[in-house]
Amino acid sequence: MVDEDKKTKKVSKVKDDKGPQLIDIPGVGPGAVAKLEAAGIYELMGLAVLTPAQLAETAGMSESVARKAIQAARKMMDMGFVDGLEHEEKRKELFHITTGSKNLDNLLGGKGIQTKSITEAFGAFGSGKTQLALSLAVSVQLPVERGGANGKAVYIDTEGTFRPERVRQFAEGIGANPDKVLKNILVARAFNSDHQMLLLDRVAELVKDGEPIRLMIVDSLTAHFRAEYSGRGQLADRQQRLNRYLHNLMKIAEQNNLAVYVTNQVMSDPAQLFGDPTKAIGGNIVGHACTYRMYLRRGKKDSRVCKLIDSPDLPDNETVFMIEKGGLRDIEL
Ligand code: GTP
Ligand code: MG
Repeated sequence: MVDEDKKTKKVSKVKDDKGPQLIDIPGVGPGAVAKLEAAGIYELMGLAVLTPAQLAETAGMSESVARKAIQAARKMMDMGFVDGLEHEEKRKELFHITTGSKNLDNLLGGKGIQTKSITEAFGAFGSGKTQLALSLAVSVQLPVERGGANGKAVYIDTEGTFRPERVRQFAEGIGANPDKVLKNILVARAFNSDHQMLLLDRVAELVKDGEPIRLMIVDSLTAHFRAEYSGRGQLADRQQRLNRYLHNLMKIAEQNNLAVYVTNQVMSDPAQLFGDPTKAIGGNIVGHACTYRMYLRRGKKDSRVCKLIDSPDLPDNETVFMIEKGGLRDIEL
């Protein structure tokens, strides 16, 4: 009885915090909720964007019930327009995560990468994409006043390049306890692109279970897709799957107010006669899906040059930083 009470209390508290849940939608019972969750759909938004046929199949209901449920979910979510002021208020909920370098943070608008968006770093091997990932995985754990988001990181490692020893050095660099820092980074090795996709559902589950995840890293975003769809005739398939993956990443970022950082390789572009003859893998699909794109390359005296490209709200600009034992550091510009 007491337990029952506690349970009810807990449920109603969750409701207060998060607004309407799947179970509140007319026509969606506990059985349907379980099926939806098994398919990775936990939120109203996930249901609202389905077609009636998709929902009917996923949740095991008739199409007419599904259609009504979708309409109800859309109404409950208030999916319409918001005015500019409201939008500004919403953006205040965003967290920022410092890269460790003030120069780089400034390039990104002052405070590093932000939640509810995807930041991509592309560049040649050794340009610093993974180092930046590790640095962010450490700094996300800092309190907000120190440039973090007081949260954990998820690290999806497709190439086996996650280095705990390096994380320890970064942690020591900011005076944090290396064991605690490592404990707050949840690492999963993705063995192929399907597995990489499936891991996204797992991240949604972790968040739902209450893990305070504020950063999700995918290092590398494109390597598996590139390796698995290497034939000329497979390009369209690859782009379509990559597009879906990016779409899901953005959904997770927006629904859970977390930052997504992805790395991407470059390939040589024979059409480019002047300037840098490299371009990012995945082309426009990746370019359009990522909110912030950074191009990293080696500069003079072992520095790294980072150029911001096509940002929605920041000027295209570049800056320089160093990779050092204890983290990313600034050098005089
Ligand atoms: P790929 O994954 O191969 O495409 O490259 P990446 O862009 O991820 O490269 P990564 O971030 O792993 O950068 C590797 C480079 O970082 C090395 O070549 C070093 O220059 C630098 N680096 C890594 N660890 C240290 C360190 O402990 N001290 C210093 N000073 N530099 C380091
Ligand atoms: Mg790397």
